[in-house]
Amino acid sequence: MRTPYIAGNWKMHMVKSEAVSLASELKSALAGVEHRVMIAPAFTLIESVAATLAGSNILVGAQNMAPAVSGAHTGEVSPGMLKDVGATVVILGHSERRNSYGESDQLINEKVSLALSEGLEVILCVGETLEEREAGAVDAVVRTQLAGGLNAIPESALSSITIAYEPVWAIGTGRTATPEDADAVHASVRTVLGDLYNDGAAQKMVIQYGGSVKPDNVDGLMGMKNIDGALVGGASLKADSFIPIVRFQR
Ligand code: 13P
Repeated sequence: MRTPYIAGNWKMHMVKSEAVSLASELKSALAGVEHRVMIAPAFTLIESVAATLAGSNILVGAQNMAPAVSGAHTGEVSPGMLKDVGATVVILGHSERRNSYGESDQLINEKVSLALSEGLEVILCVGETLEEREAGAVDAVVRTQLAGGLNAIPESALSSITIAYEPVWAIGTGRTATPEDADAVHASVRTVLGDLYNDGAAQKMVIQYGGSVKPDNVDGLMGMKNIDGALVGGASLKADSFIPIVRFQR
C-alpha cells in the first residue's frame, strides 16, 4: 500500500562530470524499477543531473532550502530557484543541518511549510544522537522533532511529505540500527503521526530509514513492517552499491 521510496543524499560530494556520469549510469540501470527513487546532489549539480535524468523515473531533489522566496539572504537558495533547475523534492531537517549549522525545529518548520506551499515534496529528517539514545530519550526526541517540524502543516499536505528516521550515531559510521530497533522507532514515529493527525493518515505515510544503509543490510531493513524506504548517504555515491539498494528484495 505504501510505495517503497529509496533516496540518495549525495551530500557535499562530486563535481559535474562525476555527477552526470553517475546519473546516466543510474538512469539506464534503474529504468523500469517500480520503487520510487530520488537523488539529491549538491545545489551546483542539480541542473545537470536533472537534465541527464530527464525522461527517467528518477526524481531529483535538493539537500536544503532557504526559508524565504527571495531577497537579501546571502548564500541561500530559494524554492523557486530549486524548481527552476529541475528539483521537485527537498530534504529538510537533516541532522547535519541541525547539528553542524544550528537548525532548530522552528526554522525547519518554516522551510517545510514554504516548500509545500511552493509545490516541492519534502523529506523531513528526524533522529536522536547517541547521548539521547543512551539517556532513553529516543521517543521523546523524535516526538519533539515531528511535532515541531510539522507544526501547522495540514493533513491535506501529508501526501507530499516523507519522514526519514536517521539515528545520528548510525550516519556514516558503518553502525546500522538493527532492523528490529529501527522498526520500533518507525512504529513510534507512526504513533506520533497518529497523535498529531489520525491513524488513517499515519498509516499512509512513507517512513524511510537512514544510517549506513548498504546492499547487504537493505533487505533486512525493508523487510520490517514500518520501514518503507531508505535515505542513503555513502552508498548512494557509487552505482555498484546504490543500484542493489534500490533493487532490494523483501
Ligand atoms: P550514510 O548512509 O552515509 O550513513 O548517510 C545517511 C544519511 O545521512 C542520509 O541522509
